[in-house]
Amino acid sequence: MCYTIPGKLVEIKGNTGIIDYFGEKRRVLVDFVNVKVGDYVYAQGGIVINKLSEAQAREILDAWEELFFALKEKDKKLSTFNKNISSQHLLWDILQKINRNQPLSRDEMLCILDIRRDDERIVYDLANNIRQREHGNACCVHGIIEFSNICESNCWYCGIRRDADIERYRMGIDEIIEVANKAVDKWGFKALVLQSGEDLWYDGDKLEYIVKIIRSKGVLVFLSIGERDKELYKRLYDAGARAVLLRFETSDKNKFSCYRPGRELRTRIDLIKYLKQLGYILATGFLIGLPQESKDVLINNIMLTKELAPQMYSFGPFIPTIGTPLAGKQLLTKSDILKAIALTRFVDKNANILVTTAMETLDQDILKDALMAGANSLMINVTPLQYKRLYRIYANRTGVEDDIEKQIRRILDVLYSLGRAPTDLGL
Ligand code: 5AD
Ligand code: SF4
Repeated sequence: MCYTIPGKLVEIKGNTGIIDYFGEKRRVLVDFVNVKVGDYVYAQGGIVINKLSEAQAREILDAWEELFFALKEKDKKLSTFNKNISSQHLLWDILQKINRNQPLSRDEMLCILDIRRDDERIVYDLANNIRQREHGNACCVHGIIEFSNICESNCWYCGIRRDADIERYRMGIDEIIEVANKAVDKWGFKALVLQSGEDLWYDGDKLEYIVKIIRSKGVLVFLSIGERDKELYKRLYDAGARAVLLRFETSDKNKFSCYRPGRELRTRIDLIKYLKQLGYILATGFLIGLPQESKDVLINNIMLTKELAPQMYSFGPFIPTIGTPLAGKQLLTKSDILKAIALTRFVDKNANILVTTAMETLDQDILKDALMAGANSLMINVTPLQYKRLYRIYANRTGVEDDIEKQIRRILDVLYSLGRAPTDLGL
């Protein structure tokens, strides 16, 4: 199984290059691995992460060629936008504006978030059509290992916050590496997200060691370890980590400080900007539907994410969780999430938008709908079962009892049914 296909480097200028995938050209950064024109390479998130021999590449490409074009055809068919549908006049004007690449006013964004049920399909169809035009049928599929549920922070919304009375675990260094090896060698992942609470037991020495070993497998190492020191992030970048997931959670600075006691939004944003500047591929975003949150805050959240210029948007519904100060608060609906995805696609046409597990926890069948409303990336949880069920950031997390291979199969079936290829072809 393979979550990205190799391509041939056909051009290099400075630190950028062009990769050819069956005639389709993509731009990539080439300064992470020593490569030359003519090499066959793997890219993730717009960076060449590894090279392989021509013989190996040919074998994979031969196996993929037919499927590659068949999936593309299917995706195109499923992504048409029927311009003849009669709809509410105002909404139609807004959709035309989006199609003409004109920026939306705040009122128009609010109108998208407030559309009637009958008009949802046409909005999602346009978002999906834009996704198809911008990204083709490529869908990034990353693996995620949740290696510790211990956290120094006490975020009000989170089920593994410091004060939560839950069973804790910390995976040993060799154990993390063993799971990573399996994810790469057995399941074919080319990018691995290492996620944990803010657990200071994993200090610079330990994390550097883990990053170096996993990076030596030729994959993209993606960190999701919370608000840690800039020095630590710099050290891990130097050790070979190249992507980072750090949400700002909410653009409302008062809510941020209330829900993340002792912390400030501006420090968080400063760190996110620093990480981008260091050269990390950035994934960031927010929670949707924190208590008493207006639609204006959601729009501010999307706009702030856009301003941070991440390579990937990561947002999801807030899920009220027992044992936290926000237990029992209101839960969003599936439509709320789909509208947020579509609006994000309209605001930032070229965005990579992740379908997150919180979305799937809200609604088990959302994956397909989200991918048909503008989303184009996902993660597969490869954490060993005995730990996965303890990583309870929020209640009733979906898939925690699923066998990993079953989960991979289920997701690939969804992707193929929509004509999507589980390949990250870069920018
Ligand atoms: N519901 C949904 N997402 C949550 N997170 C934390 N608690 C919850 C919750 N109750 C998210 C935060 C954090 C990510 C790791 O998990 O946005 O960044
Ligand atoms: Fe810790 Fe992250 Fe949960 Fe906050 S959201 S308590 S930092 S794991």
